[in-house]
Amino acid sequence: MVVDNTGTISYIRVLKEDLTIFRINPNEGSVPDFKAGQFVTIGLHIPKEGKIIRRAYSIASPPEQKKYFELIIRWVRKPLPGRLTTELFNITEGDEVLWVKPTGIFTINHKMHDGTDDNRRMVLIGGGTGLAPFIAYSLHLKATRSKREIVVLHGASYVDELSYRELLSELEIESLDGQSNDWNFRYRASISRPQEWFNRTWSGQKGRVESFLRPKAGTDRSPLEELVGEKITPENTSFYVCGWQGTVDGALDYLIPKGFVTERQKRKDGSYDVKFESYG
Ligand SMILES: Cc1cc2nc3c(=O)[nH]c(=O)nc-3n(C[C@H](O)[C@H](O)[C@H](O)COP(=O)(O)OP(=O)(O)OC[C@H]3O[C@@H](n4cnc5c(N)ncnc54)[C@H](O)[C@@H]3O)c2cc1C
Ligand SMILES: NC(=O)c1ccc[n+]([C@@H]2O[C@H](COP(=O)([O-])OP(=O)(O)OC[C@H]3O[C@@H](n4cnc5c(N)ncnc54)[C@H](OP(=O)(O)O)[C@@H]3O)[C@@H](O)[C@H]2O)c1
Repeated sequence: MVVDNTGTISYIRVLKEDLTIFRINPNEGSVPDFKAGQFVTIGLHIPKEGKIIRRAYSIASPPEQKKYFELIIRWVRKPLPGRLTTELFNITEGDEVLWVKPTGIFTINHKMHDGTDDNRRMVLIGGGTGLAPFIAYSLHLKATRSKREIVVLHGASYVDELSYRELLSELEIESLDGQSNDWNFRYRASISRPQEWFNRTWSGQKGRVESFLRPKAGTDRSPLEELVGEKITPENTSFYVCGWQGTVDGALDYLIPKGFVTERQKRKDGSYDVKFESYG
């Protein structure tokens, strides 16, 4: 049975008309324990439907943040206005929502199949709002003083959709300035509609986010391999991908021929190198 809790919208940051960051503070107690990468189910009573509509949202805040859940949500408008998001994009700070305790399996693997520590580099590939779980991963790994090498790759259509760009850039600067010796973090973004006037200032990677994995013309190295300074192999790197199914498929098109194996098609010994969560 679904157990609804109540929460209050404590903060709304409108990034653009159809992309917003929300914070929800539980009305009773604090945010329950959860794992980075899990999602919370948000519910609202929709008068037109005459019932409560509930939808899953990846939690962007880390488990260490006990005051609120932070979510980044796209208002779905086509082909028909989404039932929950249309209602959500009309609420204001101070309004109440329902939430169901976090769950989900798209979490960080700290151990290999044989119980040894998984010390491989983590490459986190997020398409659009699919970045959300990786904000939680990054902040959690920082809070727990992880020594793993982390690379966040974010893809968006427009530069103003590079949500969390400041935070991720700061995390990279902290890694580069040497003050925190163990923190090993890189962040790169890709813009998939570089020809559009709105994106005219963009001089970074162009194309969908999986283009970071494609060898550059005339070389056998991808932009990701140039960034990390070595060939990417299943022995040195694990991948986590969240976004449209096309983003997952695009990443797998490069990784499978290199011997990478997904969680859903583990090797006989139970090992794998790629986890993903897609949304159609
Ligand atoms: C694990 C998980 C995590 C998620 N995390 C996030 C997140 O972090 N951020 C985020 O923005 N979203 C996230 N989502 C997606 C989210 O759960 C919702 O699916 C999304 O917000 C749309 O909900 P809605 O009620 O507004 O749309 P819905 O009303 O459910 O509509 C969904 C789609 O169907 C179409 N549709 C609806 N009715 C019809 C019809 N009669 N005929 C044809 N088409 C129709 C709509 O146009 C829309 O494209 C996540 C989903 C999952 C499963
Ligand atoms: N965990 C989850 O399951 C989860 C998490 C977050 C969001 N969602 C849901 O995902 C939906 C939209 O996400 P969004 O608005 O964040 O994405 P978006 O902004 O529409 O797209 C993000 C990036 O993905 C590319 N893209 C779009 N369609 C693609 C495809 N079929 N194959 C490969 N790449 C594609 C876009 O490229 P172009 O510029 O070329 O279009 C863009 O670079 C929403 O309905 C949201 O509710 C689900």
